Amino acid sequence: MTLATQSSRLRSRVEAALAAVLDRDAVPSPPAPELDPAAWYEGLTGRSLDPWQRAVLTSSGQRLLLVCGRQSGKTEVVAARAAHGALRRGRRVGILSPTYRQSLIVYRRVRRLLVLAGAGMARDTAGLLELPHGGAVLAFPGDDPDRAVRGETLQDLIVDEAGIVRDDVITAAAPTLATVADHTEVHLGTPKGQRGTFWKEWSAGEGWERHTARSDQCPRISAQYLERMRVRLGPLYRQEFLCEFLAAPGGVLDPERLDELFGGAAGASWPGAGEVAEGAQAW
Ligand SMILES: Nc1ncnc2c1ncn2[C@@H]1O[C@H](COP(=O)(O)OP(=O)(O)OP(=O)(O)O)[C@@H](O)[C@H]1O
Ligand SMILES: [Mg+2]
Repeated sequence: MTLATQSSRLRSRVEAALAAVLDRDAVPSPPAPELDPAAWYEGLTGRSLDPWQRAVLTSSGQRLLLVCGRQSGKTEVVAARAAHGALRRGRRVGILSPTYRQSLIVYRRVRRLLVLAGAGMARDTAGLLELPHGGAVLAFPGDDPDRAVRGETLQDLIVDEAGIVRDDVITAAAPTLATVADHTEVHLGTPKGQRGTFWKEWSAGEGWERHTARSDQCPRISAQYLERMRVRLGPLYRQEFLCEFLAAPGGVLDPERLDELFGGAAGASWPGAGEVAEGAQAW
């Protein structure tokens, strides 16, 4: 055997050994992405998405605003986005709500979908779930800016009940997406007065894809129930179920008082109450 043949065989053996090591340590690639996350969710749960939920789940927009009435299914649809993103596309998804307990409610919804989908979990502790191929779901406390999202790098950020998440926490959360070119951000909630970041984004923010759905458009909420709530809540009914940004919800809390409570800039004045922002997709 010539010296050249010997060295060529040796090189092949080294390359084969190296390939085996690399393969053993390689992070498995995520399963092929399901083209239609709506079909994925409906097949998994046996539920039918409402038209606006379908639009949100299948949207390729980078920045989405959802202003919806109580119990209309807004948390469910972002949980579905998070689960599909983490499982099928290996995305690192952060969930931020006014409190850690509330973030965990969304987180558990995501986890339930992943369990239903038979996802294996590399790590599964309260508030942090990692999938073997790199997808992850993280829950953050919105009432503790220091422990909140600083220092994280996320691909998708979901801010639930954005109307009552402190403005400084929402501001601190945005840079977690800074270095991810194809990041997405969804802010969702029921209105909480004409104040704060959520209201500013809805009424005057640029670059947001807007979706809105009132509770009386939800097929799971009866007209009788809504009528009872209308009588019980008075003017607040319009805020909670018809998703109107009221100037002074209930006549008790004016925007300045709400700003004091939630830490926003006091005294800002914004366009009229109850208007659906231009370009919003209303259903
Ligand atoms: N398309 C659907 N089909 C069947 N059930 C649904 C659907 N969407 C949501 N739900 C169920 O409706 C209930 C309310 O949904 P969800 O919690 O997402 O609403 P929400 O708008 O976030 O409510 P809240 O205003 O209290 O935060 C939940 O039990 C959820 O599982
Ligand atoms: Mg909710």
